[in-house]
Formats: sequence, structure tokens, C-alpha cells
Amino acid sequence: MSRTARWFAAALRRTGGQLVSVDVDEVIQAEARANLVRAGLDDIVELRTADGGVALRELADGSVDALFLDAERVQYASWWPDPVRVLRPGGLLIVDNVLSHPDEVVDISARIEADSSPRSTVVAVGKGELIAVKGG
Ligand SMILES: C[S@@+](CC[C@H](N)C(=O)[O-])C[C@H]1O[C@@H](n2cnc3c(N)ncnc32)[C@H](O)[C@@H]1O
Repeated sequence: MSRTARWFAAALRRTGGQLVSVDVDEVIQAEARANLVRAGLDDIVELRTADGGVALRELADGSVDALFLDAERVQYASWWPDPVRVLRPGGLLIVDNVLSHPDEVVDISARIEADSSPRSTVVAVGKGELIAVKGG
């Protein structure tokens, strides 16, 4: 299952809030559902089987507090500007694997760098997280 979804959901159990987790693979989503039920976190997470780019396009402007990208890395740049458009002012865009797979995130990193709104940094934890804060 998505371990990340479980971690976010466990945090949201304490803070309040809801998580939408999108994956194109329905088998992955079925496993995620079973694991979330087992962990008692299924009420916090909505699992959608969909393409991430399509799901983002359907979200309203400023409707998301935090967006975590951990899918097909080379596709992220083609989703632009939706990863920032959907964030509220002060919202976070987090891109995973920026140190483990720098060649695959070069285009989305450049988009973030070139955009006047988000300020970003790379944190060397795990596989490397690019964290951008939307200005407002
Ligand atoms: C590295 S795994 C994610 C791992 C997950 N975050 C976790 O912690 O377990 C990448 C996932 O991206 C999904 N994926 C690939 N292309 C996608 C797309 N265009 N939209 C949504 N999900 C996609 C794959 O099915 C795969 O489950």
C-alpha cells in the first residue's frame, strides 16, 4: 500500500483534516484500502483510482493544503500549473525523489524555480524532498 498515505493519515488523525490519495493502479488502491482499514485510518483517506494529472485538473483553485507528488516523475511537468494552482496561499507542494532521481524531476524543478509564486528548498531526508511554499 501507499505507506506515505498511511503516514499522512496517522498525522491527520491528530491534527484533523482529510487526505485524497490518487493512483492509476486499482490493485494498489485495493491494497491501500485494506491496510487503511486494518490501521483504523480509512475514514480519513479517500482513495481515487485515476491519473494524477487528470485528478489535479479537476480540483478547484486554492482547495488543497498540501500536495505530495510520488508517481511517474517525468509526467509532473506536464501537469503544470495545476500542482500550484490547486494550493491555497501558504500551501505546500512536496516532490519526492529529487535527490535519488534528479534527471526525472528536472522539468518540474525548473517550473517551480521559474514560477514567481512558490519559494522552495530541497531537504535531504529519505530520497530527497523538494518543498515549495505557495506565496499569497
Ligand atoms: C513510488 S510508488 C508510490 C509509493 C507511495 N507513495 C508509497 O509510499 O507507498 C508510485 C505510484 O505511482 C503510481 N502512478 C504512476 N503513474 C501515475 C499517474 N500518472 N497518476 C497516478 N498514479 C500514478 C503507480 O501506480 C505507483 O503506485
